[in-house]
Amino acid sequence: MDFDDPLWFRDAIFYELHVKSFYDSNADGVGDFPGLIQKLDYLKNLGIDCIWLLPFYESPLKDDGYDISDYYSILSVYGTVDDFKKLLDEAHSRKIKVIADLVLNHVSDQHPWFQEARKDKNSKKRNWFVWSDDQSRYKDARIIFIDTERSNWTFDPVAGQYFWHRFYSHQPDLNYDNPEVREEIKKVMRYWLDMGLDGFRCDAVPYLFEREGTNCENLPETHAYFKELRKMIDREYPGRILLAEANQWPTDAKAYFGNEDEFHMAFNFPLMPRIFVALAKQDAFPIINIMQQVTPIPENCDWGIFLRNHDELTLEMVTDDERDIMYNEYAKLPKMRLNLGIRRRLSPLIEGDRYTFELLHALLFSLPGSPIMYYGDEIGMGDNIYLGDRNGVRTPMQWSYDRNAGFSAADPEQLYSPVIINPNYHYEFINVEGESRMPNSLLNWVRKMILVRRKYSAILGRGKIRYFYSGEKSVLAYVRNYGNENVFCIFNLARVPKAVMFDLHEFKDYTPVEAITDSDFPPIGELPYFFTLNSRSFFWLYLRPPGDNTGK
Ligand code: NOJ
Repeated sequence: MDFDDPLWFRDAIFYELHVKSFYDSNADGVGDFPGLIQKLDYLKNLGIDCIWLLPFYESPLKDDGYDISDYYSILSVYGTVDDFKKLLDEAHSRKIKVIADLVLNHVSDQHPWFQEARKDKNSKKRNWFVWSDDQSRYKDARIIFIDTERSNWTFDPVAGQYFWHRFYSHQPDLNYDNPEVREEIKKVMRYWLDMGLDGFRCDAVPYLFEREGTNCENLPETHAYFKELRKMIDREYPGRILLAEANQWPTDAKAYFGNEDEFHMAFNFPLMPRIFVALAKQDAFPIINIMQQVTPIPENCDWGIFLRNHDELTLEMVTDDERDIMYNEYAKLPKMRLNLGIRRRLSPLIEGDRYTFELLHALLFSLPGSPIMYYGDEIGMGDNIYLGDRNGVRTPMQWSYDRNAGFSAADPEQLYSPVIINPNYHYEFINVEGESRMPNSLLNWVRKMILVRRKYSAILGRGKIRYFYSGEKSVLAYVRNYGNENVFCIFNLARVPKAVMFDLHEFKDYTPVEAITDSDFPPIGELPYFFTLNSRSFFWLYLRPPGDNTGK
């Protein structure tokens, strides 16, 4: 990634982490900014380009910080604003960008704005929220947290009215029809951008406005507001980015790129579950089919591709059939499910299978878009489904086999969360230090893949995609192309080996070069090209043109 290129995000690898979970520098059991600064060299060495910080603002932490009670401060247990500035400086000096979560749909009910609003009908803040005397309005809006909420309205006895909330009932939605709210959020953004932050992952973007007779998602007013925010970024902070969290069907998700005048990036929510469906069905179709629906997008925008994140693996926007497949394959115990989703980390989802782990990362690093990794997945961390809500996938990062996985010098009972001690995923076995020493560990394999991707970053980041078909449904193949450069990627999703052939004669006399080892395959001729692929294996092949001795 070119750090100074305004389109840096197109070639970047993102790494999502919670300050709380990463490294505790002062032995109080909770990770903090000084701790994260100490671990920046680890991230640099891993090869990532941009950190995405989960919410670190003042908060009662009833939704792990997505319930903000002061946008202009940092939760003291994580550090100070000066620590935050130091993080930006230290990250930037290593050519690592930093983006932060911006929760703009709602606040905590502890926020002084809400406290003022509820107490007095005539207060200036009353109209910063959405009120009603009964629950009859906006009936067509779905409930998102179906396991805990019965309605999007909650009666507040102090206010004597119902207030509107799309998430937990302690998270009142802000009223975006109020110009003061719209201006305040711009002020919040400027506050952090002025410190040097490189952009925002905007939380829950589809839900800002409410309109009767609609499902209150993706409304034109919402798009118009984000276009306003984008204008502000382009004018005042060029090179900073907005990344949309819009868990929607393909057409609605794509719409957040606007006409290159809205979000720079959006999470590829449609793709993520279909990758797992494709694996379960041993069939490439779900991936190709959904990719065809989420492309094309405007030239200077990109999808953020991910396998897992800090939430449950969401299954809201899939068909009933797809959801059944997912539950049957990946969530056999009821405890593994939450709302419409699966609350498990990557490694346990795939039952610790190394081949599937590699295959999934080879997809993550070669499909169009910028990869977004979730902390701990690079070492194959496990989860704890017996912790409530989504806490099971938010346990402390495992640094070493020392006390508390090397995460903290506090007493174990003081940690914000227990570390993983299930024998299959025990921190004594799965940790950064140990894996760094083992040449063939997951961690070293991921590092290697990131290096290989970097070599082909324009092709794999910005290039076009074209699918190739062999007649074998479990084999996915595509060429990524950028200018004159091509990389042929082929994946066997099946649990058994496959022999396939592809018509590659358009690349006659090109030499496929296996990208990880730089080893030449026989040149391509007129006849179909044969591949034998072990179960759940893949190749990335740089197609070296005839007469090109420069290598890649
Ligand atoms: C989406 C976030 O990813 C999730 O963790 C949070 O609970 C909801 N938004 C509500 O803020």
